[in-house]
Amino acid sequence: MSENTAAVLTARGVRKTFEAENAPVRALRGVDLTVDRGEFVALMGPSGCGKSTLLNLIAGLDTADEGRIMVADEEVTGRTEDDLARLRRRHIGIIFQFFNLLEGMTVLENVALPAVIAGRKRRMAETRARDLLDLLGISDKAAAVPSVLSGGQRQRLAIARALANEPTLLLADEPTGALDSDGGAEVIELLTRLHRGGQTIVMVTHDANVAHAAGRVVRMRDGRIAEPQPGDDRVGPASAASATIGPASPAAAGAS
Ligand SMILES: Nc1ncnc2c1ncn2[C@@H]1O[C@H](COP(=O)(O)OP(=O)(O)OP(=O)(O)O)[C@@H](O)[C@H]1O
Ligand SMILES: [Mg+2]
Repeated sequence: MSENTAAVLTARGVRKTFEAENAPVRALRGVDLTVDRGEFVALMGPSGCGKSTLLNLIAGLDTADEGRIMVADEEVTGRTEDDLARLRRRHIGIIFQFFNLLEGMTVLENVALPAVIAGRKRRMAETRARDLLDLLGISDKAAAVPSVLSGGQRQRLAIARALANEPTLLLADEPTGALDSDGGAEVIELLTRLHRGGQTIVMVTHDANVAHAAGRVVRMRDGRIAEPQPGDDRVGPASAASATIGPASPAAAGAS
């Protein structure tokens, strides 16, 4: 598949219907999306338009009914559970909408866990986990359990954990949704810093200010992408604001 060699993520004609009690819910109705290596994409759209569903399918946490998803030249669609688990460990870091932290473990163990699951030695995993906690400014909380952390600290912990395996693609579902504006700004500054370090990021957000940190805004509506997609063009005509804010621009390069 060399349709776009720089692509870290390619989704083509992705459809997903949930069987609900009354009527089926067509959550995704043919999604096409390409994200290149090093891009920071903000995914926006009204509640229920399919953003989390799309992220879950990209991460291989749920399966598409139709269409094709490739991450880092590996097919996500049509794989076994084992294959998907391996692919996730190798390529995907995900920050969930509701964090999904393990309350029975310490902060350090939460961050080290993905690497341990991926087969690294515990000591190595914990060394990297300490580095990440340091990077995110919560190393003093290493021995605490997540429940004693503030919202912003919990969010940073979720980010640290998502970075544990040096993922090719970082997926974030409303990473600032549960935070006040200071906490939100911190998280965005952090994601911006990661992006400048070369991390590819797809972030769901409802907040236009948050979206401005990203290099490109992609809009969804009713289970579809609502704007022209790359492959076609870098930035759609309706996202003039995002076109002027590239990763190297002063606006995105806030204090760090
Ligand atoms: N497991 C499920 N079973 C049934 N319906 C579901 C399921 N998951 C999602 N849906 C439905 O699919 C649609 C898309 O949901 P999704 O969670 O992707 O929306 P979203 O864009 O992330 O919304 P929000 O911004 O509120 O998080 C919604 O109508 C939702 O009710
Ligand atoms: Mg959602």
